[in-house]
Amino acid sequence: MTGKKAQLSVDGLSETIELPVYEGTTGPDVVDVRSLVSRDLFTFDPGFMSTASCESKITYIDGDKGILLYRGYPIEQLAEKSDYLECCYLLLNGELPNPKQKSEFVNAIRYHTMVHEQINHFFNGFPRHAHPMAIMVGVVGALSAFYHDSLIINDEDHRKIAALRLIAKMPTLAAMTYKYSIGHPFMYPRNDLSFSENFLHMMFGTPCEDYVPSPVLADAMDKIFLLHADHEQNASTSTVRLAGSTGANPYACISSGITALWGPAHGGANEAVLKMLFEIGDAKNIDKYIKKAKDKDDPFRLMGFGHRVYKNFDPRAKVLRAACQNVLKELGKEDDPLLKIAMQLEKIALEDEYFVERNLYPNVDFYSGIILKAIGIPVNLFTVIFATGRTPGWVAHWHEMISNPFKIGRPRQLYTGPTYRDYPTK
Ligand code: SDX
Repeated sequence: MTGKKAQLSVDGLSETIELPVYEGTTGPDVVDVRSLVSRDLFTFDPGFMSTASCESKITYIDGDKGILLYRGYPIEQLAEKSDYLECCYLLLNGELPNPKQKSEFVNAIRYHTMVHEQINHFFNGFPRHAHPMAIMVGVVGALSAFYHDSLIINDEDHRKIAALRLIAKMPTLAAMTYKYSIGHPFMYPRNDLSFSENFLHMMFGTPCEDYVPSPVLADAMDKIFLLHADHEQNASTSTVRLAGSTGANPYACISSGITALWGPAHGGANEAVLKMLFEIGDAKNIDKYIKKAKDKDDPFRLMGFGHRVYKNFDPRAKVLRAACQNVLKELGKEDDPLLKIAMQLEKIALEDEYFVERNLYPNVDFYSGIILKAIGIPVNLFTVIFATGRTPGWVAHWHEMISNPFKIGRPRQLYTGPTYRDYPTK
């Protein structure tokens, strides 16, 4: 902490209020406003644009410079040199694993990828055409019914086994939502495959023949999971923290994160980007959609553009843009019409004053959908992929909060409704 102070003078208050100012290892200082409630004052910050909800050591974003660090390591270097499970370990434990720690962690995840057989029956309650996110919200929350041995949140061992189970089972459940929608039998995970190879096997394998996952697609999948693994206090992570602050079990908390992620302004944007590119259909229609995006009377927004924090390129979008071109080239799809429209859209938007003035750059969702489509993932499963990748981040934040002193999250309000009035006498 810095010893720095902020002075707040409020009309009608006799004395100036002195508030402590804290400095992080990097990023903006924060003003501690907790004492205001004792002076019958609240801060007002709908959307939490200027609010630090917690102290954290996990992920740092510099929106102006387009920097994203997982425990201090830049996302570009992790995307190039690390892999998804190593990043899961890093986010959960704060340091990169040594070879022994990594092998133990990979094995621990491997041996938790199966789900209880009763979960299969849970799926049968859904219509085959249910949106996969609707199933994930239900099934992940329902996991708590199967793991009463790991629900004491103040027990570190319970927290650890819940973390492993959630990270390990998300790809299995994700693939199950796809198989269920096409009437195929569920594929059991295989212990001889890597995390991402296993996911592709459970998605596209069948009991009728051996399925050999393509190393190119497995690498692209691993990069997608890695790039989505965490992103500090975004809406879904804040939801997980809020749910966790009530003492809810970890499976319920992660289910609440999945729910929040589903919105098209958040993780649902990757699905919305693809739908938008399909709707644009041809580069000649781009100007019409740019106009719609700028029209205040039109609810249409350019999906995959803009970000609450990044006022520069989302570094993940840059990595995905390059990966996109490589994957499509490897698959002989470099002439993919959607990629062409996306690149043209990006070029035009980045030159348009409306977008430049508002610092609206492509974000993580702009390119991820094109890669996922090239891999063969159905569009309505894109946000499920995002949720699968984000699970270690959600769990790391939940664990960080629970393993330190915390209070239940309970914001106040600016009330502008009717004041006290008696019920009318008949
Ligand atoms: C994710 O928070 C995270 O970290 C999220 C995430 C993560 O990893 O967890 O990074 C993942 O959610 C990425 C964002 C995905 N969403 C989209 O791509 C949907 C399209 N983008 C927007 O809806 C919007 O940009 C947000 C929601 C992402 C950010 O909204 P803000 O910060 O609340 O900004 P705003 O809505 O106040 O917009 C500021 C201005 C407005 O115009 P003015 O009123 O100033 O004239 O920019 C305009 C907005 O109308 N604007 C857009 C736009 N985004 C903002 N105009 C057209 N198209 C857009 N995409």
